[in-house]
Amino acid sequence: MNLTGSHILSISQFDRESIDRIFDVADTMAPYAARKKATRVLEGAILGNMFFEPSTRTRVSFGCAFNLLGGSVRETTGFETSAIAKGESLYDTARVLSGYSDVICMRHPQAGSVEEFAQASRVPVINGGDGPNEHPTQALLDLYTIRRELDGKGRQIDGLRIAMIGDLKFGRTVHSLAKLLTLYKNVTLVLVAPKELAMPEPIVEMLRECGHKVTITEELSESIKSVDIVYSTRIQEERFTSKDEADLYRGRFRLNQAIYTQFCEPNTVIMHPLPRDSRMEANELDNDLNQNPNLAIFRQTDNGILVRMALFALVLDVANLVDQYSHDVRWFTGNR
Ligand code: CP
Repeated sequence: MNLTGSHILSISQFDRESIDRIFDVADTMAPYAARKKATRVLEGAILGNMFFEPSTRTRVSFGCAFNLLGGSVRETTGFETSAIAKGESLYDTARVLSGYSDVICMRHPQAGSVEEFAQASRVPVINGGDGPNEHPTQALLDLYTIRRELDGKGRQIDGLRIAMIGDLKFGRTVHSLAKLLTLYKNVTLVLVAPKELAMPEPIVEMLRECGHKVTITEELSESIKSVDIVYSTRIQEERFTSKDEADLYRGRFRLNQAIYTQFCEPNTVIMHPLPRDSRMEANELDNDLNQNPNLAIFRQTDNGILVRMALFALVLDVANLVDQYSHDVRWFTGNR
């Protein structure tokens, strides 16, 4: 599957071969992400980075990934700074901005909105999250992280055992990751959520149809006993009708060091797409896990740069030219 010029809208568009290709290219981006080398391969290219919902990781890492390849970034954040606030349609916005950009990344609160935008765009569009629907680049960086974490233990993604925990109804990251896991064999998934926030049934069916073992439960401690990955998620407060409604579910699936020590196998990897809700009442993924070497949340965020660089390089067809346009860096590069 050739990604040149393609929109990246859903995880469903990928096959295993294309995932392997993205991950192989991501591996080659490591010296650039670590500032051991720099490249100008996208010098002159412009990323339109349009985020109509709050974001730290996705927005900034898309921007940094593009900068690290030598390109420039123009951002729109929030509806209030966009002419959409004056009633302009997604169609018109896409026609205009695709005249200014070589590729566009977009986050929008409505499911399907990024696809609608892409249909009018004259340049590739990458989905940075469309409401509760999908977050395909997060799923790719999550799977890339899972592969790296398992690799150190001599394991592969085939045969993975994973617990997905929290708001599985509105959590777009788990929707995309679950769909991505249908490309692999013999995966065991434990889906831990209040029944009101359960994984959508079509995704559960998709997982079962491909032969995966799926358990649905509201009980945390048994669920995290025999898995390789504990993938925790935030209660997606912004998708609820009120904060009070979201409050009903906070703290239901708290993971801290004591719970980890009591119930998890040694070396169980802890993941979370972030942001984690660190307010006292959230009781989600406690700060006392920060010293646990199996906490992979910041390896995930670092890997996001590699995967997003790979996607830009493949979509803009420069993956084989990155080194040719490289040079040494001259500044202090820290201890990455
Ligand atoms: N994981 C993720 O999408 O984080 P942001 O909302 O900060 O982009």
